[in-house]
Amino acid sequence: MSVQHDFDLTVFNTLALKSQCSDYVALTDHNDIEPAIRYAKAHGLNVFVLSGGSNLLLPEKFRALTIHMLMQGKEILSENADEVVIKVQAGEIWHDFVCECCAKGYHGLENLALIPGRVGAAPVQNIGAYGVEAGEFIETVWAYDLKQEQHIQLTAEQCHFGYRDSIFKQQAGRYIIYALSFKLLKHAQLRLNYADVAQRVGEDATAEKLLQTIISIRQQKLPQPEQFPNAGSFFKNPVITAQQFSDLAEHYPNAPHYQQHNGMQKVAAGWLIDQAGWKGKRLGDVGMFERQALVLVNYGQASLQDVQRTYEQIQTDIYQKFAIRLEPEPVLLNQFGEISPHISAC
Ligand code: EPU
Repeated sequence: MSVQHDFDLTVFNTLALKSQCSDYVALTDHNDIEPAIRYAKAHGLNVFVLSGGSNLLLPEKFRALTIHMLMQGKEILSENADEVVIKVQAGEIWHDFVCECCAKGYHGLENLALIPGRVGAAPVQNIGAYGVEAGEFIETVWAYDLKQEQHIQLTAEQCHFGYRDSIFKQQAGRYIIYALSFKLLKHAQLRLNYADVAQRVGEDATAEKLLQTIISIRQQKLPQPEQFPNAGSFFKNPVITAQQFSDLAEHYPNAPHYQQHNGMQKVAAGWLIDQAGWKGKRLGDVGMFERQALVLVNYGQASLQDVQRTYEQIQTDIYQKFAIRLEPEPVLLNQFGEISPHISAC
């Protein structure tokens, strides 16, 4: 285990925010987690766990031990004629894993193709797209519990998966995920509940065709971080009460919305931002992408302050226009490497 000092994280966060941490270690073996924690304790440092860096807002400098989860490997734990349980290490690239599973005939994750990041981050915000969430297929999560100071295994039920939510988000900083297993299907049950997806896949739908369709939809709509540094959807889709929704619908009968099980309504943050005139609009180096208003892009050398200035302005505008609060999706880190709550601008 070799610790590096004053380490530059600019290339390790997809928003390309300039950032340096005081201490950094790349881990390729989960047995090095405990020595890394001992190092952090001995030096009075917090531990910050870095995965693919695709959902992160980093300060210019912070004092912490960054543990970069780069462990690789996949193994089949069990299989029968219908299902396979596959264990995968946290450092594997998510999209490569999804493609490899589909090619081997292990199905379920196709709708989640091209989501940036590494496998270990998937359960944290329960990544989801086109009607599928990772949590539906996760069977077990292997993690180190910093509170109990021991290695643990959690079942999917114990992970409390919800929309962009899990125990790992609710108890941020407690668990270091180093592997997970997925139960996948050998006979694909294609999830085509998104009209756009169903239409493009067409009549002779196969899992491979669905995978390629999702890839092409995302390539058309969403900016690739290598070209336009971004952190995916920047805001969560707000969930509002039936009363708030009927107030909205009175003025905007075409507002896209998704009825929730509890009577609440989820509205499309991208639509709200678009309606407020922010699609393609910039404040300095930071702006909302011209083909998808939900994605905030760093068009130059933006700092965290530049990003905050822009998204707070958007929050204010949306609140004034629709009386709806937008909550940023990416994780915000403070100067001590701790995950901090976003301060709402309104
Ligand atoms: N819309 C606009 N203008 C825009 C963007 C969207 O009017 O600029 C409208 C669309 O026409 C549509 C609605 O808003 O009626 C919803 O848009 P879309 O279907 O593109 O999905 P989304 O709600 O914007 C969510 C996820 C994405 C995921 C897609 C597809 C969240 C916060 N985002 O986006 O996830 O890929 O659905 O399932 O839930 C991510 O988390 O990084 C991400 C990209």
